[in-house]
Amino acid sequence: MSLTFDDLLLRARALVPGGRRALLGIAGSPGAGKTTLAEHLVRELNGSGEPWVAHVPMDGFHLADVELDRLGRRDRKGAPDTFDAAGYAALLRRLREETDGEEIVYAPGFERVLEQPLAGAIAVPPTARLVVTEGNYLLLETGAWARVRPQLDEVWFCAMDEEERVNRLVSRHERFGKSHAEAVAWVMRTDQRNADLVATTRERADLVVRQSALPAPLG
Ligand SMILES: Nc1ncnc2c1ncn2[C@@H]1O[C@H](COP(=O)(O)OP(=O)(O)OP(=O)(O)O)[C@@H](O)[C@H]1O
Ligand SMILES: [Mg+2]
Repeated sequence: MSLTFDDLLLRARALVPGGRRALLGIAGSPGAGKTTLAEHLVRELNGSGEPWVAHVPMDGFHLADVELDRLGRRDRKGAPDTFDAAGYAALLRRLREETDGEEIVYAPGFERVLEQPLAGAIAVPPTARLVVTEGNYLLLETGAWARVRPQLDEVWFCAMDEEERVNRLVSRHERFGKSHAEAVAWVMRTDQRNADLVATTRERADLVVRQSALPAPLG
């Protein structure tokens, strides 16, 4: 029998025994539904009470355009070397270690209209017992990405039907201002290469979440 969203909620809850903070990673190709899954988990687990689950996307570690221009990598935005992987791994380590103080740990967000990272956008209070982090490259073993997996208790992999994934990605690029032709070209040229790389990391996941368990986006 395949997993349901309720099974996923139970499994996420079980990661947090006693007072310790747990970190759950969600990996998957561009457009596979990682953010949607994370948002649903966080919303359902937090319920209407005091929030105890935080959402920290890997997306906040995109390098800014000014740095991508300096590196000559602007046209490859989204590839593994266009992120601050070492910074991401270091933040995850802080989230794992700094749990008994009073301090908020701030994480950067990603602004989808500007397509730029935004420092200090996400506050993780010391009371957060579960941190859900999600992105393409959580299971990569090259360079600084290799330091990410050891900071996480479990990593789940979002597996989406390829045709559906590509269609959703194209419509999202259109929603954020690209023409249909530009969106298709970007998805085929840039996103697909990254998607192929991410697909090779699937076997390292603790759990593969199939499309049937993925909820629809929050309205
Ligand atoms: N069940 C669903 N039905 C229809 N559309 C969906 C569903 N789940 C997600 N989507 C849409 O598919 C697109 C990709 O979903 P989402 O942003 O969650 O993926 P992602 O893996 O986080 O992508 P990225 O790697 O680009 O950050 C979004 O536009 C989202 O609204
Ligand atoms: Mg996302």
